[in-house]
Amino acid sequence: MPRPGWPSLVADRDLDLLVLADVNPDLVVSDTAMEVAFGQTETLVDDAELTIGGSGAIMACGAARLGLRTALAGLVGADQFGEFMVRAVSERGVDVTGVGVDPGVRTGLTVVLARPQDRAILTFPGAIAAMTAERVDAGLLARARHVHVASFFLQDGLVSGLAQLLASARAAGATTSVDPNWDPAQRWDGGLHDLLGDIDILLPNGAEACALAGVADAEAAAAKLAADGPLVAVKLGACGAVAVPAGGGALVRATPPERVVDPVDAVGAGDAFDGGLLCALLNGQPLAEALAFACACGTLSMRAAGGTAAQPTLAEARAVTRRP
Ligand SMILES: Nc1ncnc2c1ncn2[C@@H]1O[C@H](COP(=O)(O)OP(=O)(O)O)[C@@H](O)[C@H]1O
Ligand SMILES: [Mg+2]
Repeated sequence: MPRPGWPSLVADRDLDLLVLADVNPDLVVSDTAMEVAFGQTETLVDDAELTIGGSGAIMACGAARLGLRTALAGLVGADQFGEFMVRAVSERGVDVTGVGVDPGVRTGLTVVLARPQDRAILTFPGAIAAMTAERVDAGLLARARHVHVASFFLQDGLVSGLAQLLASARAAGATTSVDPNWDPAQRWDGGLHDLLGDIDILLPNGAEACALAGVADAEAAAAKLAADGPLVAVKLGACGAVAVPAGGGALVRATPPERVVDPVDAVGAGDAFDGGLLCALLNGQPLAEALAFACACGTLSMRAAGGTAAQPTLAEARAVTRRP
């Protein structure tokens, strides 16, 4: 279980969640028969759309949709992609006062080349890698019940100050979580192992958990990582999720709701899951219930293309959550 005091230690704060996030648009280019041809060949595609991207920005929107009072801390450049993100995320009810604008960097961008069942993801990190712990607004930090770090392996500039930031947030009564997401360098450490003692919840998917723990099985990976400190919740796509309580203990399993929708795409499913799990735990629900609710949030987010368009409300997610 999360450490003593969770989740009521600082229940009187006026923000539920502060997300230290990658803030960048996704340019989703999709085609049923997508083939990328070089050699100055022009290829027509079915669709192209600029949407809210960045795992952390998508997660913050999902949490706000569920009713959490959510703020974003991140960095964009003084450019149109940055303006797009700040406006679009703000329109979804997220406090964006903690998103800095630095004319010295350019806003990151992810180009998603999507075809049915698969996608290529090309990311220009730009401002994402220039975000630092020093840039996180101390006032926002002091107001938040929970601090979540997204895309750990993309936020290169954040890492050096993160241990101190998380430790002091916890000392002041907040809880903390990290979604590592994929490590493009595939080194799978970058200081994350040293941070485990300062993290209440770790939120990898199956492949990420295995790579982090250095084992081939996701359940074994969850147990190994949980032994080093945090509650570990591992996302397993269509199979749902498993979790091991902080410090170790009995494995908890949850499955997605039965066919509530025909999935359109899985962009942001893991981020919707993260928002759902934090929402349920901050509301005081037991782990098994919270995990099932998080699965419902992930699955429902697949009802439409892109990361944020189909993120569920609390009522929608509760209505389809499986009983543990
Ligand atoms: N094909 C699917 N069918 C039903 N639910 C899914 C599917 N893919 C993902 N989900 C739901 O979304 C959650 C997170 O998705 P997942 O793809 O595992 O995370 P990530 O995006 O981090 O890789 C899963 O735990 C599950 O509840
Ligand atoms: Mg993920």
